[in-house]
Amino acid sequence: MDTLRLKDNKEGIIAAAEILKADGIVGIPTETVYGLAASAYSSQAISKVFTAKGRPQDNPLIVHISDMDMLSDVVSEFSPTAKELAKRFWPGPLTMVLPKSEKITESVSKGLSTVAVRMPSNIVAREVIKASGLPLAAPSANLSGSPSPTTANHVITDLDGKIDALIFSSDCEVGLESTVVSLAVDPPRLLRPGFITAEQLKEVIPNLVIDKAVLQELGKGEKAASPGMMYKHYSPKTEVFLVEAENDVFVSFVNSNNNCAAICFSEEQEKITVPVLSLGQKESAENQAKNLFALLRQSDTLNVKTVYVHAPKKDGVGLAVYNRLIRAAGFKVIKL
Ligand code: TXA
Ligand code: MG
Repeated sequence: MDTLRLKDNKEGIIAAAEILKADGIVGIPTETVYGLAASAYSSQAISKVFTAKGRPQDNPLIVHISDMDMLSDVVSEFSPTAKELAKRFWPGPLTMVLPKSEKITESVSKGLSTVAVRMPSNIVAREVIKASGLPLAAPSANLSGSPSPTTANHVITDLDGKIDALIFSSDCEVGLESTVVSLAVDPPRLLRPGFITAEQLKEVIPNLVIDKAVLQELGKGEKAASPGMMYKHYSPKTEVFLVEAENDVFVSFVNSNNNCAAICFSEEQEKITVPVLSLGQKESAENQAKNLFALLRQSDTLNVKTVYVHAPKKDGVGLAVYNRLIRAAGFKVIKL
């Protein structure tokens, strides 16, 4: 099929909404990463999403709403904690796992009694939802396993000819997928870290648990609280290693290796003699988040066997950057 190129103006939004109402699938911008949207009521549309992405069949999707009126079509319960989180962080990059409404098709939730829901802050995303009148299920608009798309061109690289349309809009401001917190378990559990940090969530949920799979590989037979955490993710074709080291030690390590590239902090860039990309300043996890996925894609253009990435700090937004990197590296960490 030809993928229709749409603008992020009124006509583009209306055209996208018409395609979605007719069970089509459309790439849309969000503040986190580009999403591949489909009606959350239509199993036919949802199955097209899984086919286009090559997504494992047991991995459920996040449903996106434009306003609080839509919520009762998606969830069957909205606790006081959920209300407080929505008040603080919606619209924005926070997804809550809650008991599911019957209207949401089984193909979204993959047999679970819960559904993941978020209200994006990106205006184009919300206008598309509003114009379609549908809650929209939307995973990241990349081929399953590859780095998530933070620009419209990333979506074209992965999915051109496989989706009905794509809205070309600005690059994503956050650059990492939303924070996912489950309120369907007691105590509530952070399943995926993101721009809304564990520290911010703890102001509302003091007993928040950070799921083991955020920083560790699950053992054989261990069941993931969030199915998406089981899979290898975000990986370029080049082999990635995460390196935990002080600045100078990292620099000497990469400089003494052959056929490799480095993804480093900007403070180190000038001292590195192998091909090098900079994540941003060591102290600015927000910048690192924004650059990460584009750099992982870029590392495939450097024609090296291995890319060594300097590990960020694990607090604040840094926890999310670390979480994506350790998956991109298939949990291969070098501690120096
Ligand atoms: O920022 C985002 O969340 C982006 C944009 C497009 O909004 N979407 C996104 O979707 O990242 P996706 O499909 O790439 O990631 C959804 C994650 C997966 O790890 C999945 O397993 C988890 O959310 N998830 C979805 N429904 C769930 C549920 N009911 N219980 C636990 N985890 C769930
Ligand atoms: Mg994804």
